[in-house]
Amino acid sequence: IARDDLFVHYTLESARLGNRPMVERRLADLRGCFADEAAFEAALRQGNPLLYSVSSVEPAAGDGQLHYGLGILQPGKIGAEYYLTKGHLHAHRPAAEIYVGLAGEGAMLLEDEATGESRLVPLRTHSVVYVPGHTAHRTVNTGAAPLVYLGIYPSNAGHDYAPVAKNNFRHVVIERDGKPMLVPREKK
Ligand code: PA5
Ligand code: NI
Repeated sequence: IARDDLFVHYTLESARLGNRPMVERRLADLRGCFADEAAFEAALRQGNPLLYSVSSVEPAAGDGQLHYGLGILQPGKIGAEYYLTKGHLHAHRPAAEIYVGLAGEGAMLLEDEATGESRLVPLRTHSVVYVPGHTAHRTVNTGAAPLVYLGIYPSNAGHDYAPVAKNNFRHVVIERDGKPMLVPREKK
């Protein structure tokens, strides 16, 4: 393993891990994710802002090894729904993940693939969230500042975006009376 994979420096401002490549997701990349499609199209006509970026370190592959990524999710809403990540299952379904909140205030929407059970778990500074295997996960920023977090996962986890792209999550996280609330997605 290369020495610069043994020690990596990050900054909360750039949310970049060393010089690792960064994946950027803009509003247009999130078509189909938000519940209020009219609000999405209206926002897109105003511009195509950066919603989040993820920088990952993959020191080694193979059984027992770990990868990790630093994410920064901007604050904002589409309609009443908070800015969110696409969300995914792990290609290797049993793979779990640990999220460590580094800055800001948000939550993780967890949905069990087998039962569809949904849970909203706070993710903020000084908090750790355990994402079990077989669980679709999406991050939402419910605060006014960027949400910064580290996700640590088995090197063989992989990202499977297809199920969420097809069916989305069963619930949406909206602001109601100034507070985050989990509500069932309305059928189209
Ligand atoms: O591995 C993870 O779960 C995270 O690093 C996510 O990839 C990150 O939050 C971005 O979300 P998504 O991959 O669903 O776009
Ligand atoms: Ni993941």
